[in-house]
Amino acid sequence: MNEKTRILCSFLCFFYVLLVSPSQSNGQDFSLSCGASQPADDQDKKKWEPDTKFLKTPNTVHAQATYQDPSLLSTVPYMTARIFTAPATYEIPVKGDKRHLLRLHFYPSTYTGLNIADSYFSVVANDVSLLSNFSAAITCQALTQAYLVKEYSLAPSQKDVLSITFTPSDKHPKAFAFINGIEVVQMPELFDSAALVGFSDQTSDTKSANLQTMFRLNVGGQDIPGSQDSGGLTRTWYNDAPYIFSAGLGVTNQASNNFRIDYQKMPVSTAPADVYKTARSQGPNGDINMKSNLTWMFQIDTNFTYIMRLHFCEFQLSKINQKVFNIYINNKTAQADTNAADIIAWSGGKGIPTYKDYAIYVDANNGGGGGEEISLQMTPSTFGKPEYYDSQLNGLEIFKMDTMKNLAGPNPKPSPMQANEDVKKEFQGDKRIKAFVVGSAGGVAAVLLCALCFTMYQRKRKFPGSESHTSSWLPIYGNSHTSGTKSTISGKSNNGSHLSNLAAGLCRRFSLSEIKHGTQNFDESNVIGVGGFGKVYKGVIDGGTKVAIKKSNPNSEQGLNEFETEIELLSRLRHKHLVSLIGYCDDGGEMCLIYDYMSLGTLREHLYNTKRPQLTWKRRLEIAIGAARGLHYLHTGAKYTIIHRDVKTTNILVDENWVAKVSDFGLSKTGPNMNGGHVTTVVKGSFGYLDPEYFRRQQLTEKSDVYSFGVVLFEVLCARPALNPSLPKEQVSLGDWAMNCKRKGTLEDIIDPNLKGKINPECLKKFADTAEKCLSDSGLDRPTMGDVLWNLEFALQLQETADGPRHRTPSHGGGSEDLGRGGGGVAVNIDIEENDVADDLSSEENSGIFSQIVNPKGR
Ligand SMILES: *[C@@H]1O[C@H](CO)[C@@H](O)[C@H](O)[C@H]1NC(C)=O
Ligand SMILES: *[C@@H]1O[C@H](CO)[C@@H](O)[C@H](O)[C@H]1NC(C)=O
Ligand SMILES: *[C@@H]1O[C@H](CO)[C@@H](O)[C@H](O)[C@H]1NC(C)=O
Ligand SMILES: *[C@@H]1O[C@H](CO)[C@@H](O)[C@H](O)[C@H]1NC(C)=O
Repeated sequence: MNEKTRILCSFLCFFYVLLVSPSQSNGQDFSLSCGASQPADDQDKKKWEPDTKFLKTPNTVHAQATYQDPSLLSTVPYMTARIFTAPATYEIPVKGDKRHLLRLHFYPSTYTGLNIADSYFSVVANDVSLLSNFSAAITCQALTQAYLVKEYSLAPSQKDVLSITFTPSDKHPKAFAFINGIEVVQMPELFDSAALVGFSDQTSDTKSANLQTMFRLNVGGQDIPGSQDSGGLTRTWYNDAPYIFSAGLGVTNQASNNFRIDYQKMPVSTAPADVYKTARSQGPNGDINMKSNLTWMFQIDTNFTYIMRLHFCEFQLSKINQKVFNIYINNKTAQADTNAADIIAWSGGKGIPTYKDYAIYVDANNGGGGGEEISLQMTPSTFGKPEYYDSQLNGLEIFKMDTMKNLAGPNPKPSPMQANEDVKKEFQGDKRIKAFVVGSAGGVAAVLLCALCFTMYQRKRKFPGSESHTSSWLPIYGNSHTSGTKSTISGKSNNGSHLSNLAAGLCRRFSLSEIKHGTQNFDESNVIGVGGFGKVYKGVIDGGTKVAIKKSNPNSEQGLNEFETEIELLSRLRHKHLVSLIGYCDDGGEMCLIYDYMSLGTLREHLYNTKRPQLTWKRRLEIAIGAARGLHYLHTGAKYTIIHRDVKTTNILVDENWVAKVSDFGLSKTGPNMNGGHVTTVVKGSFGYLDPEYFRRQQLTEKSDVYSFGVVLFEVLCARPALNPSLPKEQVSLGDWAMNCKRKGTLEDIIDPNLKGKINPECLKKFADTAEKCLSDSGLDRPTMGDVLWNLEFALQLQETADGPRHRTPSHGGGSEDLGRGGGGVAVNIDIEENDVADDLSSEENSGIFSQIVNPKGR
């Protein structure tokens, strides 16, 4: 071989490596885009190949969806489908001695000449029945999702081919089967046996089990997309917050970025390090923790055994008997007393992950409970007198186990609202509404609103899955971006409009007469606020429930846009410190949004120019912490960073229990994870709160909210407006004036006279330093909302310590007090329940209102 050929060879090898290795990590993995004629990439740059060569049945039909739902993250593999009117089989080469993940992707849309409602079919993989009498359309409807992914983990079959057979139901005359995408991923044997809950010393063999993934959660952390899964298994891990049932969300904790997870003997493919580096625990107050359980609830099919895999990793403590807790599954004890959970004892040390598998059979009368659900509960064990009274979970997977090779359950039942034919008919029969939906931008709003209401209903009840398993697979935050939504949704409405009809059946829609009645015909005396959108009225619905009603100004194009933005965002967000939407009204050319009523009004009206009693310093701190928590959630809690863009004291509302809620998302912007990135946009917001850097460069980042929040903090401290033109020039802008005084050391002179002498000096310093940092000229120098939150909580602790001791266990996050931690910070404790009693009240109250609204029969 001469020099030239050698060089050429190594070049080719190099390119071969470049081209082949990244996407095809494992020669045994397949991603088939069914009905496609060409290979194509999805949004994660994963390559999908056409399905033809694996299809063993001739004469099948391939089809193209005629409508692209805006919630599809990628056209591949969803926009093409394979249609079967007779049984058909795929044969995919696999290693018979290996376990495999099988994912089936369904997009029940309009395919030419076919009515998707006729599609009922079964799917059998090797000899395991995965689905039977399955209607993707009904399932998606029940979940208000455009598409769904079902994931199975199939035990080694000892055959070198995985055959997947689709059979249209013979019970339905025009039935056909369809499939959009098939993924087969070889995986290590990650299962062995699971402790049978409620029976001491009994285990259930999971090594030979065929499983269906029901839920896979990164507890206390963000969604982890398949592309970031460990072991190349492309599993998606979702945030657990929607499944939390108890009033208290507990506290989320995070290890620092460079904290190393030491897998030791455990396969890395068990779960990615990000799962182990975040956790949810009960909170800093051991006394409160002891009296409650942290509870998650999951909706499942009955008559199956479920495997619950609880992932743990301790990244704060390092000794045995520091944190010991009990675990209950469906009210049965999984770990308690002498056998209570101690992560360090199980794993062998800090930073070493571990997991525990439990098996539980769920039948229809499930211990007298409702049946179709599984609960997971944790509370501190006091038995061995551990150092801290707290409990913790890092990750959770729930699998359905096959019974005699069957995994298929029934289609989900329609929700109470869906079942209510009257509501449906009324809506469908209303031509005005139809024209509205098709014709105007408002249609977008209506459609989204309905989707939103149902989403909220599901999440409020914390049973996002309705009755189906698939829910866990649906990207809770995975809706499309704002951009382009308008045209595509209108497109859908022209196009059979199945979503709008569906949504109509699901959503609480108020009639104009209800709203007029509730507001005394929009009487001016009921106006409680005015925004870009229009006026906000106080009102009453259902003969007593107080609500806030935002009425659009029909002439304002901007109002409509803000209306849509608000719906888009609120439909994806649900948080204790964000205001919640109840329903809408779009009768007679009026457009209204109906929210929970915040009886204590805006933060501003408690600060100055008010007849209300003065707020104590502690109360002010608590409100600031609540608002910071809401903003922190916006910035980091969802898949996309959300920038509020209009943070000010009139957009921070307070409910009857003094829980602060961020409101008014009309100007908000989302972008794909904007770490380090920004959006260029026309400057909007409120003067006095505007980030000067944003103003100069028109580049929006989440740090603009941090700036505005800094102004809010000074407003809270000084009790004066952000802008007061009647003052001497240097004092007009509170931000500038307070910064000036802070630098000169005269801040004490401008604080609210009512607070003089009542703030602990250390607390004041912490608070003022935090506010000052927020107002840094450059966004890079400003803290994140997580840092702000941490510092405010610390300030509150300083104040409380000064006010007199209360039992609080030390915040074992051990976070540094230093504001300049930047991104690489130590654990940030968020979601701490400061006022548990009040929190309970507010949640109860809300869910009470909510269930009345979503279930008309319940009233
Ligand atoms: C579960 O099993 C019981 C008893 O075998 C049966 O009566 C019931 O109908 C089954 N439920 C479902 C949803 O299949
Ligand atoms: C926690 O839940 C378990 C199981 O439901 C229950 O037995 C226990 O009493 C609960 N503990 C507290 C403190 O609520
Ligand atoms: C668990 O206990 C609670 C409270 O007693 C009850 O409401 C619930 O139905 C029980 N759940 C199960 C699965 O038994
Ligand atoms: C198939 O599913 C539909 C919808 O859930 C249901 O109405 C029907 O009874 C089922 N048919 C059979 C044969 O189970």
